Amino acid sequence: MTERPGVSRRHLLISGGLAVTAPLRRTENTDDPGTRSGQSAGESGRTPLSAQGTPFSETMADDGHAPDEPYLDGDEIQGNVVPGFLKPYMAVAALTIDDVARAKGWLADVASRITTMAEAMESRAKVRDHRGLGPERLNLLGTLPPGLNDAWLNIALSSGGLSKLLSGGNHAGDLGLFADQGFQRGLAARSSLLGDPTDPSAEGNPANWVFGGPGREADVLLILAADREEKGTRVLDEVRAHAVASGLTILYEESGRKLNKIGQEHFGFHDGISQPGVRGRLSGFPGDFITPRTIDPSCPPDAWLYGLPGQYLVWPGEFVFGYPRSAADPLTPGQVNLPGPAWSRNGSYLVFRRLRQDVAGFRAFVAESAEGLSGRPGFEGVTPEWVGARVVGRWPSGAPVSRLPYRDDIALGVDPLANNNFGFAADAAEDPLVGGLKAGQWPDAKADPLGLTCPMAAHIRKVNAREAANDLGGRRASFSRRILRRSLTFGPALGELSGHDPANGNRGLLFACYQASIEDQFEFLCNGWAGSSKRPRSPSGFDMVLGQNGVPGDRRMRSCTIFGSGAVPATLVTMSDFVVPTGGGYFFSPSISALKEVLAARR
Ligand code: HEM
Repeated sequence: MTERPGVSRRHLLISGGLAVTAPLRRTENTDDPGTRSGQSAGESGRTPLSAQGTPFSETMADDGHAPDEPYLDGDEIQGNVVPGFLKPYMAVAALTIDDVARAKGWLADVASRITTMAEAMESRAKVRDHRGLGPERLNLLGTLPPGLNDAWLNIALSSGGLSKLLSGGNHAGDLGLFADQGFQRGLAARSSLLGDPTDPSAEGNPANWVFGGPGREADVLLILAADREEKGTRVLDEVRAHAVASGLTILYEESGRKLNKIGQEHFGFHDGISQPGVRGRLSGFPGDFITPRTIDPSCPPDAWLYGLPGQYLVWPGEFVFGYPRSAADPLTPGQVNLPGPAWSRNGSYLVFRRLRQDVAGFRAFVAESAEGLSGRPGFEGVTPEWVGARVVGRWPSGAPVSRLPYRDDIALGVDPLANNNFGFAADAAEDPLVGGLKAGQWPDAKADPLGLTCPMAAHIRKVNAREAANDLGGRRASFSRRILRRSLTFGPALGELSGHDPANGNRGLLFACYQASIEDQFEFLCNGWAGSSKRPRSPSGFDMVLGQNGVPGDRRMRSCTIFGSGAVPATLVTMSDFVVPTGGGYFFSPSISALKEVLAARR
């Protein structure tokens, strides 16, 4: 297949910084009121927030009309929640508390070692400055700024862990104030609802998990991340030794690392590209946003809607307790979201799942599908890579099929100024960027409401409907389903040649994500959209990557619809689960003061 002819380049910037035409504003999906192009936040009825004693910004915005965004408490929020550790090495350890009094002593000590959002932000900014956002980044991927050698620690507790630590103290009744039923009941109890196998003999059934199944639920999850593995291991050794000496038991421990400098997961696709841009400020200094802004302020409302091009900004209450959520108007803060006790402010729910990946099975599926399709009209010459790109929605490099439907290009895949700049409802366009930044030049993504290019069932479309209409509404519905992913691969890569596998299939993703509601965000994405053959929109089918349909035994057949040229449809079918859950838990990641003053407190 060749590049589709006639792709419009009229909105592209010409290198050298000259715009050949005035950039066309993105055609916003107007299912949300108050977001019409050019409408100022003031016109949309924005009200300043000072509700519930939360220190919301009264400060000058960087632009007269930009929304007032709240300060996030950088010394309270754990750093893996925001901005995310995103280091090349990660380790997790799941523990149980046997002796509560001694565990509290340990927790008080660990609390002083937790890496905060403010600390992580500083180091992340150094990495960004070092690698830049432009095309030169390709050569700098995988390199670190001189002297950077962080080893960071975060902690989270399950409802069982909280129950032990709160019991008999001043906050004894507070566990019941956590509104989320998923969190209250735990991952193992919710596993069948996520579509995991219900057959107790299946590997993915909680009965067989390495931890987190019945009777093996963790109280505590430690997450460690480091620039260099040696330092990470050293810190983990210290923390583990202290935990064991304080009477905690290690249930499970595993490390993960980047497979290559792009950050591909085991199926071979660049992961960790699209993250919601968390709105909010670290300080009152102009431009001191949690999520850096790249769209030129002369381009409202896009400059107020996006961090990186195509990266929608989402109000922090969707992820961190005690901050405003999304409202109908994305430029207006919604209600403050505190779905737990007062001390849960600045905390976030953490979902951790150990997902084993059947790489050989996935490769066989795309190869056999390509072979079966390639002789058919509309699919002439399709390759396994082409099928894989339809199943994921991106090529191995990360280049979105919405921008390059017929071929991969690593330069697009690793360009943060371009690799997420697409929607599904409307044609996307290029905006001028700040500070001389320039995205590489590729065809603009075209509106794809029916999924002819990026199928409705493509993984990235199942878990983020972007601005397109979906069964729950439009953009706002997508915003309140977003998650902050913090995953890394475990196990060695499977070589290209089939044959001997020293890891015996034991490789996959240490999947972790943060959100303000496990039910409405992580669980909903799994069972509401990815595990539904019809939602968020038809003609769809199942998310073939996550691969679950909730049916026990051998009736786990999954299918999805994809399109060849001329909008010819075809159905992909498999009986195999390429991703098998093998452990995990639901946790709450408290603020630093909640750790010290509530959970480690003796009363
Ligand atoms: C082993 C299992 C998984 C694999 C191999 C996988 C792979 C990928 C890849 C390659 C991408 C595209 C790159 C990117 O935007 O980061 C992606 C995006 C994404 N994945 Fe997964 N994923 C897995 C599990 C999950 C799970 C369990 C969820 C939870 C619902 C999830 C949610 C997402 C989200 C929200 C995105 C971003 C979509 C967007 O905004 O465009 N993934 N994943």
